[in-house]
Amino acid sequence: MKKIEEYVRSIPDFPEPGIIFRDITSILQDADGLHLAIDSLQDLIKDVDVDVIVGAESRGFIFGMPMAYNLHKPFVPVRKKGKLPCETISQSYDLEYGQAEIEIHKDAIKPGQKVVIVDDLIATGGTMEAAVKLIEELGGEVVKILFLMELAGLKGREKLKGYDVASVIRYE
Ligand code: PRP
Ligand code: ADE
Repeated sequence: MKKIEEYVRSIPDFPEPGIIFRDITSILQDADGLHLAIDSLQDLIKDVDVDVIVGAESRGFIFGMPMAYNLHKPFVPVRKKGKLPCETISQSYDLEYGQAEIEIHKDAIKPGQKVVIVDDLIATGGTMEAAVKLIEELGGEVVKILFLMELAGLKGREKLKGYDVASVIRYE
């Protein structure tokens, strides 16, 4: 059986020179790769008491939603600005390449709920830091932060100090 890292395709100089893009589509388009990715992430929270799974648009949806379904927990999307129709709160942040703003519905998390946040990848950590701020502003407790892949060299974890962070694949 192949290891999960063997399913990841790495593309140099995408979307800009100097970036090695870690492509998840090569995982998803293989049924074994897809199962292994979701199972590996879910294994990281097998002992975690969780009320809500949050996923960051868009790749965080791909991995967070099946976990919520399997665990019979609600799924809450954190979306890019301007996509959510009801009352939102927002946070802007820097990316490895560019800038963005994310939002969450105000009624999506109830105060005291235990939240696991899922994304495909941590690079600079800006996206996840912003997602944590949104959840905490609504009174949620971030009990675990999960990534399928971690680009350790970019030191994104430093933005998440004090949180329980785990990843399946680590690139130095
Ligand atoms: C990518 C990735 C993470 C984020 C990581 O998303 O899926 O969410 O960047 O970068 P960071 O740690 O530097 O914040 P992107 O914003 O490209 O959106 P997408 O998932 O819709 O492709
Ligand atoms: N998002 C931010 N940096 C990335 C990278 N190097 N590969 C894939 N997605 C990313």
